[in-house]
Amino acid sequence: MIDQANALRELVGQIDQGRPGAPPTHRPESAAALRLAAEEMSPMPAPRLARSIAITSGKGGVGKTTVSVNLAVALARLGRRVVLLDADLGTANVDVMCNLMPTGTLAHVAAGRMSFDDIVLDAPGGFRVIPGASGLSNIAALPREQLDRLAAQMQRLEADADVILIDTGAGVGPSVHAFCAAAERMLVVTTPEPTAITDAYALVKTVHRPGATDPNHRDLSPDRAGAAVPETHVLINQCRDAAEGREVYGRIAAACRHFLDFTPRFAGHLVLDPRVQRAVRLRRPFTLESPNTAAARGLHQLAHRLDRAASEPREDHGLIRRMAAWIRG
Ligand SMILES: Nc1ncnc2c1ncn2[C@@H]1O[C@H](COP(=O)(O)OP(=O)(O)O)[C@@H](O)[C@H]1O
Ligand SMILES: [Mg+2]
Repeated sequence: MIDQANALRELVGQIDQGRPGAPPTHRPESAAALRLAAEEMSPMPAPRLARSIAITSGKGGVGKTTVSVNLAVALARLGRRVVLLDADLGTANVDVMCNLMPTGTLAHVAAGRMSFDDIVLDAPGGFRVIPGASGLSNIAALPREQLDRLAAQMQRLEADADVILIDTGAGVGPSVHAFCAAAERMLVVTTPEPTAITDAYALVKTVHRPGATDPNHRDLSPDRAGAAVPETHVLINQCRDAAEGREVYGRIAAACRHFLDFTPRFAGHLVLDPRVQRAVRLRRPFTLESPNTAAARGLHQLAHRLDRAASEPREDHGLIRRMAAWIRG
């Protein structure tokens, strides 16, 4: 097995050397397939695992992708190796917001036609993006073989990054739940709108009390996964000022304390700023386009806060351990 893997790696190396600087799309299909086969057979890299943060929301359009992209920029500026995984399988659009042209997506990886190395893109601001697949609407419904393949690819990612940010879809569907429950931390984004607040609480509830809302959920309880529920942070986006952010957080925290018996952490607030919308239209992260705005400063504060929280040790470290438990579920 090892000999075969080494031979495959050598062969892939030769093909790559023969085509210096060739972009992944122009590589012969056989090279991508061989690389994939070599990766699947080779031993796993040393277990220096990345921290994982799922950026999620109950309601769509609250700013998950905007926050994910700009948080990636801010964490990269702190010197972290950041990978942003676009896991919004319904409306994947990290690539659009970063003005990138994907050569392949998660769907190609799940189908075994490409690896993460083939599809990963360098984004402005110094981080990497794994483009999402709008066609893969329900990851939970993928055949076991495809889920295993994604998990194996993610394991490599985990050893090759300091932080993995996961931009999830909105709502309480099984795919969103899978990514949130697998991540070590989740950053729940909401606006002060009552519908966004109630949907944010509903999402937190599905992750902290899965059986209460979905009798068919796949159990990720500590016994099954060897992992606790993700540490939960709440960010209030598009608010008027700090006072409104605190007030909205206070309401969500009170509901969590009362009904779920835990208090989420306050991740801060981002004000509603037309320059954020302008940057989205220009397809540039607003932290790069308008670095001197209150929103950009808020994002850098958030990055510092999460970076500090992520350096606190957690026993259940490891996205893949948790994903694997979910897949076995
Ligand atoms: N702080 C903000 N100020 C102004 N507009 C914002 C802010 N955050 C997000 N937006 C706008 O909200 C829209 C939806 O954001 P997006 O990140 O795509 O949401 P989601 O990923 O949750 O669906 C975008 O057009 C963006 O310009
Ligand atoms: Mg989005």
